[in-house]
Formats: sequence, structure tokens, C-alpha cells
Amino acid sequence: MRRGVQIRSVLFPDGVPVIGDAIVLQQVLLNLVNNGMDATEHLSGPKVLTLTTATPLGSNYGTISVEDNGCGIAEEHKAKLYTPFFTTKNDGLGMGLSISRSLIESLGGHITLVNRAEPGTVFEEELPLILPKGTAKATHA
Ligand SMILES: Nc1ncnc2c1ncn2[C@@H]1O[C@H](COP(=O)(O)OP(=O)(O)OP(=O)(O)O)[C@@H](O)[C@H]1O
Ligand SMILES: [Mg+2]
Repeated sequence: MRRGVQIRSVLFPDGVPVIGDAIVLQQVLLNLVNNGMDATEHLSGPKVLTLTTATPLGSNYGTISVEDNGCGIAEEHKAKLYTPFFTTKNDGLGMGLSISRSLIESLGGHITLVNRAEPGTVFEEELPLILPKGTAKATHA
């Protein structure tokens, strides 16, 4: 509210049971949400951040994506995003994405920049599902 950004959530109705640590995930989401909000700073129209969770068909990962309708990322910056201390901000440290990637990978997941057709940016985190698809639940006689 303070930054005038609307946050929309499109959450998978049954929840997404991933292997992880709530505090670690909170830290990663905070980094991505802050980046998304920074990217919308210059907009005069609506500033929108969309958080989506899903369990894509045929995948043993659950996904959480953070999408903004902000300035987007220049092609020449894409290769440097996860490099420690890479920043384009006057007050940035350039550690948010580097730390987020290490944290997600330590949980067996991946973080990727996804192409977005409209202006803006989407980062997607994939984390292993607790019960991989196709695994029968244990049954007891
Ligand atoms: N959602 C986004 N939209 C546009 N550019 C982004 C986005 N997320 C990251 N970036 C670019 O990637 C750079 C690195 O991001 P990162 O989070 O690692 O550092 P930072 O935000 O600059 O500083 P901090 O250490 O405070 O997070 C940013 O400076 C910015 O140029
Ligand atoms: Mg950041």
C-alpha cells in the first residue's frame, strides 16, 4: 500500500506441498517482491505484482512465480543478474538475486527468469514436491 503496488495472488487451490523451509522461502520471496516493486517505481499507471503458485503437469516441482509490470531487464544485463554485487540501482547492494539463487538451490530447486510478452519481469522458483507425481500414497491394511 505504501508503495502504491497492487499485489494479486493466483494460488493453486489445493496448495503446493514443496520441500523447503518457510523462513528461507520468505526471504527469497521478499527479495523478489522488493525487486518487482522497485521495477514499477517509475510507472504512472497501475503498478501490479502477481504471485502465482502451480504444480505444472508432468513435473515433480511446484512453482512460485513473482511477476511485475515494471521496467523489465535489458538483454545485456540478463547474464549478470545472479553475479554478487551486480546492481543497476543507486541504493542497491546487488546481493538479492545471488542469495536467492543459492537458497533455492540449497533446497534442490531452481530460479529462472521467464520471458514475458508484455513489459515487465517474471521470476519463477521451482521446488521439489514432497510427494512426486505418480507416487502412490502409502496405504495400510
Ligand atoms: N523484477 C525486476 N525488474 C527489473 N530489473 C530487475 C528485477 N529484478 C532484478 N532486476 C535487476 O537485477 C539487478 C540485481 O538484482 P538484485 O536483487 O540481486 O540486487 P538489487 O535489487 O540491485 O540490490 P539488493 O541487494 O538490495 O537486492 C537489479 O539491480 C536490477 O537491475
Ligand atoms: Mg534486490
